[in-house]
Amino acid sequence: MSDSTALVDSLIENIAEQYPVHRGFLDQAIGGATPEERTRLDGYLQFCQGKGLQLDYLAESYLTILGDTLEEQIYFREHGSYRHSTFAEVAESVYHDRDYMDRYMYGLAITNFLWPNHVEMARLLHRTLPRNRSGRYLEVGPGHGFLLLAAIEVGAFDEFLGVDLSAASVEQTRTIVEHFHPEAPAKVELRDFLEAEDLEPGSFDAVVMGEVLEHVEQPEVFLRRIAELAKDDAYIFITTCINAPAVDHIYLWRTTDELEDMIVASGLTIVEPLRLPYEGKTLEESREQDLPINVAYVLARTGA
Ligand SMILES: C[S@@+](CC[C@H](N)C(=O)[O-])C[C@H]1O[C@@H](n2cnc3c(N)ncnc32)[C@H](O)[C@@H]1O
Repeated sequence: MSDSTALVDSLIENIAEQYPVHRGFLDQAIGGATPEERTRLDGYLQFCQGKGLQLDYLAESYLTILGDTLEEQIYFREHGSYRHSTFAEVAESVYHDRDYMDRYMYGLAITNFLWPNHVEMARLLHRTLPRNRSGRYLEVGPGHGFLLLAAIEVGAFDEFLGVDLSAASVEQTRTIVEHFHPEAPAKVELRDFLEAEDLEPGSFDAVVMGEVLEHVEQPEVFLRRIAELAKDDAYIFITTCINAPAVDHIYLWRTTDELEDMIVASGLTIVEPLRLPYEGKTLEESREQDLPINVAYVLARTGA
């Protein structure tokens, strides 16, 4: 095992000690990571340690999101709906609860390396982000900042703008960018995307929005606004989920068709879809049993 990723092994060991039944899953997950992904996770853990965060805390953060998600899955199976359906119900307990939101974003960042569907969605972004495209990159809800970091590392954009309504997310995205790419021309603003009325229509060369749509009351408004802000030939990438409860998921799509109809009705065309079934199930089984399905799409403006 390479010393350069020793922290990754320590994190896995730490999580497994706190939650032994998860060890098999963890071993398999990290066994499937590419050397590049392991190095990236190791770099992230070093960055977190530089901020004074202990591995214990990071392992707990990951287990918080895991435990909370399992609890919400039980609620969903019993009630057939998500626990909450309005933004107001989750705003204070999640987005504006600094301690919880910090844990949530650190934990979510780690899932990008351990949860197979999150790994696949991150890989799709890395594979499809345009290499030579310059211009302006917009990201809605960057959270932990990993997607924005990928755009800085893979693309050739001249300007990066992240917009997030949570102070914890803004801090995490700003610091991760400053740590890995202090020279990057990136701005991260604390505000609601829907209130960012000063953004100029047709001015962005890329728009990315990972795991945000299921957190909002009117996802179609977000999709239409993205279509409006993107240049005709912009790269557009979004991820979201179907029947996938979490503490702050409020918009429930019951089928991929429902979601994809909404995307198309919003003036966007699906260029490359990625539909990922629940672990250990096929897409068909996930659909029949209303199990979580993760989705990621490369999109384009319709008619471009
Ligand atoms: C689950 S995190 C997603 C983080 C990351 N993009 C990813 O793909 O893992 C959702 C993020 O969207 C932000 N968010 C939710 N509603 C928003 C809105 N209306 N405007 C801007 N950001 C929003 C949240 O504060 C949070 O940081």
